[in-house]
Amino acid sequence: MAMTLDEALAAIDDCFDGAFGAAGAEVVVEAFLDGEEASFFCLSDGKTALALATAQDHKRVGDGDTGPNTGGMGAYSPAPVMTPEMVERTMKEIIEPTIAGMAKDGNPFTGVFFAGLMITAKGPELIEYNVRFGDPECQVLMMRLKSDLLDILYAAATGTLDQVSAEWSDDVALTVVLASKGYPAAYDKGTPIDSLPATGDGEKVFHAGTALKDGQLVATGGRVLNVTATGATVAEAQARAYALVDAVDWKNGFCRRDIGWQAIAREKA
Ligand code: GLY
Repeated sequence: MAMTLDEALAAIDDCFDGAFGAAGAEVVVEAFLDGEEASFFCLSDGKTALALATAQDHKRVGDGDTGPNTGGMGAYSPAPVMTPEMVERTMKEIIEPTIAGMAKDGNPFTGVFFAGLMITAKGPELIEYNVRFGDPECQVLMMRLKSDLLDILYAAATGTLDQVSAEWSDDVALTVVLASKGYPAAYDKGTPIDSLPATGDGEKVFHAGTALKDGQLVATGGRVLNVTATGATVAEAQARAYALVDAVDWKNGFCRRDIGWQAIAREKA
């Protein structure tokens, strides 16, 4: 990413001078988008798009959005930057034209997808589509979904999405990813997780990379646990989630301590 025109020109010179080998032989120039990112989840049955919910991921490994990119170190839903007006614009300007265009081209899309958006001063801009639920975004979505997931997936699969709606809790859900020390670089596998907290209403510890080995819970991956809680505000969901995190006994685990920081700053303002 280049912050100035000079940086962009220097990066292009690097590419064509061989700094990236054969991978630098072709260059795609994209507009610089300045704003807040949000993920916008939808279902399609090929003709109708049903907006599900919004979430915000935290891709960098370190607090303050520093360090290398990861698969996601935490998320919350809904994303406050996705106001009702932004949702309506996203549906009209991005989602509905995509679904209509794919049907018109003879490639109707059926299934779940999410738009990675940048909310700029001009409104929503599309960065990418993924045809799946996000991880860990799915976990916070499922904490808020009041409808039966099977009913809406079945409607998407059978072309009847225009006959269903999805009901969502107004609560915020927030998840903190506990990862193996070293992730996203090399990390030890098989380290013991000695205890997990008891969970109550609106609290859940999702297992992403664990196994039971001779009766002992062990970590088997980079991103290992998703410690999740709901609340009336992002601040409340965050406080509940970190209280659970602090009750996990896993010496080789680490997490970011600031999941939700942008939304909490917005709540304070
Ligand atoms: N958390 C980002 C993704 O699932 O693509």
